[in-house]
Amino acid sequence: MTLKPSTSDTRPVFAPFALAGLTLRNRVVRSGCFEGLSQGGVVTDRLIEHHRRVAAGGIGMTTLSYCSVSQDGRAFGHELWMRPEVMPGLRRFTDAIHDEGAAASIQLGHCGFFASPRVIGRRTLGASSKFCLFRTSVCREMSLADIAEKTTDFARSAVMARDAGFDAVEIHAGHGYLLSQFLSPWTNQRIDRYGGSLENRMRFPTEVIAAVRAALGPRFPILVKMNVRDGWHGGLEIDEAVQVARAFAAAGATALVPSCGFTARTPLYMLRGGVPVREMVQQQDGLLTKVGMALFGRIMVQHYGYEPQFLLAEARRIRDAVRIPVAYIGGVESLEQMEALIDEGFAFLQVGRATVRDPDFVDHLRSGAAAATDCDHCNKCVASMSRDGIRCYCVEETALEGVAL
Ligand SMILES: Cc1cc2nc3c(=O)[nH]c(=O)nc-3n(C[C@H](O)[C@H](O)[C@H](O)COP(=O)(O)O)c2cc1C
Repeated sequence: MTLKPSTSDTRPVFAPFALAGLTLRNRVVRSGCFEGLSQGGVVTDRLIEHHRRVAAGGIGMTTLSYCSVSQDGRAFGHELWMRPEVMPGLRRFTDAIHDEGAAASIQLGHCGFFASPRVIGRRTLGASSKFCLFRTSVCREMSLADIAEKTTDFARSAVMARDAGFDAVEIHAGHGYLLSQFLSPWTNQRIDRYGGSLENRMRFPTEVIAAVRAALGPRFPILVKMNVRDGWHGGLEIDEAVQVARAFAAAGATALVPSCGFTARTPLYMLRGGVPVREMVQQQDGLLTKVGMALFGRIMVQHYGYEPQFLLAEARRIRDAVRIPVAYIGGVESLEQMEALIDEGFAFLQVGRATVRDPDFVDHLRSGAAAATDCDHCNKCVASMSRDGIRCYCVEETALEGVAL
C-alpha cells in the first residue's frame, strides 16, 4: 500500500520512505505506548480517537500498542487480545488512521510470567517456573506443546491484523515480555533445546518470527522490538543482543527496533527519567495494592537518569550488525537529532512520549512551530495508562495553571 505524502517536503525526515512493500509518508513512527483504552478487551472510540489525533498530527505510521496474541498473555483487563470479535473495531481503527494519511502498525506480544492471573483466570506461562514480584505469582514452565501453540497464536494474530487493514505488525520481543523472557538468562533456566546456550534461548523467538513471516508472505512489513540489554548484570547484554539481531533478521524481520528493559524488574529502564510513585498509587484499584505501592514503590521501581538519545551507543551496534533497516528509539527530542540519526544510517525513528505530550509533534517540527518536544520525561503518562487511559499530565497541569492565573 502507498500512502499519499502530506506535503512535498524533501528533507529526509519528512520525505516518503519505503519499508518492504509499504511506503510511509515520512520516517517518524509513533512507538507502541500502551493506551489503557481497550476497556473490556475491545477497541473503543477513545482508542481510535487517540491514534487518529496522532495520525492527523503528521506521523508516518502509528502503532497500536501491546495486543496479546491470546487471552492468557494479558496484564490488564483493559488490554486487547486478538480474536474474531475485535476485527470490526480494528477495521474502524485502520480506516481512521488511513483517512488521515498515515499507516497503521500493531504491536503483538504475550506477557508470559507477568500476565495477571486474575485477568487471565489461570496460572501464568513462562520460559521457566519463576516468581513474579509484581503479581506475587509463580508461572508454569511452558511445555513444547505450549511453545507450538503460542507460535501459532502469533502467526494467526498477524494474519488477523493484516486482514483488519494494518500495514505492518510489530512483534514484541523486548521489555521482558514472553519472547524476551526466553532470551533472558534471568527468566530462562530451561535445560531443553529452548534454554541454556544463546542459540537455544533464541529458538522460540526466531521460530515465532519465521512463522509470522511464513503466514504473511515475503513482502509484508514485520518490525521486531528487541532488547539491547535487560538492565542488570546477569540479564541479556549487548554482545548477545547483536547475535539476536542477526538471527531475527535471518528469520524474516523487515526491520528492528532496539530498546531495553524488563517490565517486571526494571520497568523504567526503557524510559529513563521520573518515577511517578504518587500517580501510580492513585491509579491502583485495591487498598492493599495502593498501600503496597506507597510503601514499596520506590524500591520496586528504580530510578534511571534520563539523557537525550539514551540508547544511541547500543542501537549503533545493532544497526551495524545487520543489513535490514534499524529504527532508533529512546529519547528522541528534536528535529536536529532526527536529522542526525537518519544521516548516520538509522532507517527511521520511533517516538513515544513526545507524541503523547503533543499529538501534532511531527507537524510542529515540520512547520517550524517547534524545534523540540517540551516533554520533561516525568513519566506520569505511564501511571495514567494503567486505569483510565493514556494522557500527558503536564499538559493538564499547564492548563490548570492557566486557569489559576
Ligand atoms: C505511557 C507509555 C506506555 C508504553 N507502553 C509500551 C508498550 O505497550 N509497548 C512497548 O513496546 N513500549 C511501550 N512504551 C515504551 C515506548 O514505546 C518507548 O520505547 C519509550 O517510551 C522510549 O521512547 P521515548 O523516549 O520516545 O518515549 C511505553 C511508553 C510510555 C511512555
